[in-house]
Amino acid sequence: MSFEGKTIIVTGSSRGLGAKTAEMLKERGARIIGMDKNESTEFVDRYIPLDLADQASIDAAAAAVDEPVHGLCNIAGVAPTLPPPLVIKINFTGTRALTNALMPKLADGASIVNVASGTGMGWPRNVAKHKVLFEMGLDADFDAFCAEYDIEKVNCYHFSKEAVIMWTIGEWKMIEDRGIRMNAINPGPIETPLLEDFLSDMVNPNAPMFEMERSNGTPEEIASPIVFLASDESSWIHAAAIPVDGGLSAIVHKRIHQF
Ligand SMILES: NC(=O)c1ccc[n+]([C@@H]2O[C@H](COP(=O)([O-])OP(=O)(O)OC[C@H]3O[C@@H](n4cnc5c(N)ncnc54)[C@H](O)[C@@H]3O)[C@@H](O)[C@H]2O)c1
Repeated sequence: MSFEGKTIIVTGSSRGLGAKTAEMLKERGARIIGMDKNESTEFVDRYIPLDLADQASIDAAAAAVDEPVHGLCNIAGVAPTLPPPLVIKINFTGTRALTNALMPKLADGASIVNVASGTGMGWPRNVAKHKVLFEMGLDADFDAFCAEYDIEKVNCYHFSKEAVIMWTIGEWKMIEDRGIRMNAINPGPIETPLLEDFLSDMVNPNAPMFEMERSNGTPEEIASPIVFLASDESSWIHAAAIPVDGGLSAIVHKRIHQF
């Protein structure tokens, strides 16, 4: 897979999965624009500061891009160690706002890859709540939304990732005319600093991952499919949300549907 002559924006590029994805894309010839709240120096050709919770920062980051972009990897995200309104803003609403702001910079045929999560696979049961969320910009009252719809520490991360999956599926038509594709990856647990944050808060002894011999993937094992989805070799994959979890989602399906 060659990315020679292509410029790819990677959010979350300062560490974890974003840094690994930037490294793998760069090895394959891509020019990398890293966007992150924290400065990224490794594996990026240009760093643009970005706070996904702040519309002004998003607008400034998008305005700073002055070249055609052939791919956008939306990887930045936070664990539910932050307050629920902020988790939803960063993981979904700000990510969507950045994508929309960058749309005029994306070349025809570009590929957008969103990193959702296996925790978002229950999105169909919350469609009504997500329809309300989808109408909200970053300046909306997220405290009131969370209070009204029972979004709390225990479910805010899942809810934010459900929104990413539903958005990825729901937007399939919007960008079809320009040949732009958008897909999501739903990782299981990955060995990154975020996993430590997550587990420090969320350990449940009955969690499906404890049935697995090896429940955690490496950053490489998630970055590889992201790179594939960003490449022209995945040209017929569009509006899909793909589990990359060593089989974890199969355990969840078997538990839910009892087979
Ligand atoms: N690690 C896992 O187990 C796991 C599992 C499923 C999905 N994910 C998702 O993968 C993505 C990457 O996670 P990771 O494990 O590499 O986490 P990480 O914490 O190592 O990296 C997250 C990156 O996002 C950046 N970031 C945080 N808040 C930001 C903000 N407001 N604006 C801009 N950038 C911000 C951080 O600076 C950091 O570089 C996230 O979206 C996460 O939800 C992770």
